[in-house]
Amino acid sequence: MDKLSVLVINGPNLNMLGSREPDIYGKTDYQQLVRLIDKWAAELDIRVETRQSNHEGDIVDWIQDAPSSFDAIVINPAAYTHTSIAILDALKAVMLPAVEVHISDVRAREDFRQISYAGMACEEHIIGEGIEGYKHALQYLAAALSRDGLGGAGEPWR
Ligand code: DQA
Repeated sequence: MDKLSVLVINGPNLNMLGSREPDIYGKTDYQQLVRLIDKWAAELDIRVETRQSNHEGDIVDWIQDAPSSFDAIVINPAAYTHTSIAILDALKAVMLPAVEVHISDVRAREDFRQISYAGMACEEHIIGEGIEGYKHALQYLAAALSRDGLGGAGEPWR
């Protein structure tokens, strides 16, 4: 069987990890995060590619193209979580299993972070576990896809 292949998508300002509000997002910088994701994926025998963009349209394009090269998506849409119906629609259009990750506990933060559009198309939501959340998302997909084959969107957290 081919290796499970996962596209990890990171939205705006996540390229500034490490220096950006470290009390909220931690001190690990973006390049370190990418290396950790590579390591965690290798341990799970997953082929992974990690991308980041500050532009909503890039993220929509990557989701649209994902089915030709990937089995599943891990997405931290960052601020677009709370605004982007375009990202929600793209995730619904491709119907790949998707897991939403947030480094911080958005549920305990401002009111404007209490809606997740992208999350409505995700089957799992890993929130407030720091960067380890990406590891848990990969573990979730490795387990879920070996058990059930391709999944579908589950309950939105909000
Ligand atoms: C975030 C939470 C979002 O509300 C915020 O806009 C981000 C990062 C997180 O990972 O905790 O940029 O998605």
